[in-house]
Amino acid sequence: MHTQVGIVGAGPAGLLLSHLLHLEGISSVVLETRTREQIESTIRAGVLEQGTVDLLTEIGVGERMKREGFVHTGVELRFDGQGHRIDLSDLTGGKAITVYAQHEVIKDLVKARLETGGEILFGVSDVSLHGIDGDSPKIRFIQDGEQREIACDFVAGCDGSQSMCRSNIPEDKRSQYSRIYPFGWFGILVEAPPSSEELIYAHHERGFSLVSTRSADVQRLYFQCDPKDSVDNWSDDRIWAELHARLDTAEGSQLNEGRIFQKGIIGMRSFVFEPMQYGRLFLAGDAAHVVPPTGAKGLNLAVGDVVVLSRGIAGFYKSGSRDRLDAYSHIALKRVWRAEHFSWWMTSMLHRFPDQDAFQNRLQVSELNNVVNSRAAATMLAENYVGMPIG
Ligand code: DHB
Repeated sequence: MHTQVGIVGAGPAGLLLSHLLHLEGISSVVLETRTREQIESTIRAGVLEQGTVDLLTEIGVGERMKREGFVHTGVELRFDGQGHRIDLSDLTGGKAITVYAQHEVIKDLVKARLETGGEILFGVSDVSLHGIDGDSPKIRFIQDGEQREIACDFVAGCDGSQSMCRSNIPEDKRSQYSRIYPFGWFGILVEAPPSSEELIYAHHERGFSLVSTRSADVQRLYFQCDPKDSVDNWSDDRIWAELHARLDTAEGSQLNEGRIFQKGIIGMRSFVFEPMQYGRLFLAGDAAHVVPPTGAKGLNLAVGDVVVLSRGIAGFYKSGSRDRLDAYSHIALKRVWRAEHFSWWMTSMLHRFPDQDAFQNRLQVSELNNVVNSRAAATMLAENYVGMPIG
């Protein structure tokens, strides 16, 4: 089998890349070790930057997002028992975020790909790369018990944070940068109407918490926890008591309780792999970088990567020149590091660290006060939150 671009991974990066290439008349095959049902039901974050929304709309994949997603023009920072609104739209010349779950974006992309004749091979195993430093790389894998091979011009490694693809880049040609945070997020899905019209990022001495939403009757809530804790230690009553302790304000509680139907703990780390390309292999999305969830940059960064990558690949097929393609890592990493810094900064400002003393606590509150009282500081948060332009 031959295709122009072999794509490993049917997450947001791989699927969107495949669709963007299709719109440029470039063929691709997407390989995925999980099933379609698995990728369409994995619970992830739900905040789309303005640029992500605009792109999905432009390429004809935004119809359901426009109908079912929630546009938020502001966000609340809550600390010292009081809420403060950051007016995202006012501070960014009219931009906003849209709350729409990542697995819904995945469903829309899979549908769009299949409707336009795209090839996604689900449930494959033993995927390996060959000859990425030559002119005709190959991807080998097993499908339905049979060994198969795809010959291609380029390989896109979009295989997520545990990427097999990136291990094909020789050790002396790569660098990795990382931070592991000493806390995780306990996430729940709740059958209840929204507690707030906008997202709430709350700082509290007991730890961070976040109020988000999914629909008119499903809410998404998170609170900082020990990353090694188990969901079995958290009864519904204990979860609600913890959320109230962290979120109730002087005016009382606005938290709408309901049936909790999903619980999970996510670890938090920052990770960047450089460069994002080697020979004919290009990494995109979590395969090249991971952010802690605060600020929900993960999917949006993947979108930025594949926009730059698809332009480089399209440029190659149009002109025969690799110039734009060879600049991919350099261009993508600028945006990646901006989001890495923003996610680390939000995480550091809002979470309680295990060894945190009263001095550090005061510094966090002072920084939060600066963000809500200084238009310059609020603009910095707002610009990053709604998303930097794709380079
Ligand atoms: C959500 C996740 C985030 O990491 C965040 O910063 C905001 C919202 C969410 O899942 O809704």
